[in-house]
Amino acid sequence: MELMEIIKGRRSIRGFREENIPKENLLKILEAGIWAPSGSNIQPWEFVLITDKKTIEKIKLISPGLFGNPAALIVVCINKERSKKAGKLGETMALMDVSMAAQNMMLMAYSLGIGSCPIASFNKTGIRELLDIPEYVEPVLIVSLGYPEFWPKPPKRRPLKEVVHVEEYGRHFE
Ligand SMILES: Cc1cc2nc3c(=O)[nH]c(=O)nc-3n(C[C@H](O)[C@H](O)[C@H](O)COP(=O)(O)O)c2cc1C
Repeated sequence: MELMEIIKGRRSIRGFREENIPKENLLKILEAGIWAPSGSNIQPWEFVLITDKKTIEKIKLISPGLFGNPAALIVVCINKERSKKAGKLGETMALMDVSMAAQNMMLMAYSLGIGSCPIASFNKTGIRELLDIPEYVEPVLIVSLGYPEFWPKPPKRRPLKEVVHVEEYGRHFE
């Protein structure tokens, strides 16, 4: 697939078939994550991979934004011991870093025929306790993974003409 096809084809998936993801594919997805750019190359990410069905069920109970029965979850976290090395900008850059890592992982997943959904709506304290995540590590996003029941139609995008400002703010493409 061409890159643009992958970028446009990825969808947030909220219904999954009951089929496990081979470990080699999970590793490819995770590897795509660590190749994201990172401010000052601090790489503040930590990824907690969950494939245990019972743990996934428990996470569902404390995650209102998590739909369907995914085969795996990646809890994307920021290691604050690392991010604080970047000084004042550390917190913001770390969020950007892990977001880019998450997108890399979701695009890689899609290229392997695997659906994903980024999930911000979950109980951080609950996840921390359940997964034994230390105080200096903050879970910020869950990425669910699995083979989709179907690929939904793409939600509308704001048109380029509206979001692109040419040379100065407010001047749009003809
Ligand atoms: C930061 C972020 C948080 C999101 N949180 C949730 C969530 O908690 N639950 C959910 O079902 N979708 C969530 N989404 C998915 C968005 O709803 C989805 O990306 C958007 O509707 C566009 O659809 P698409 O991803 O299929 O292009 C989130 C997306 C982002 C980027």
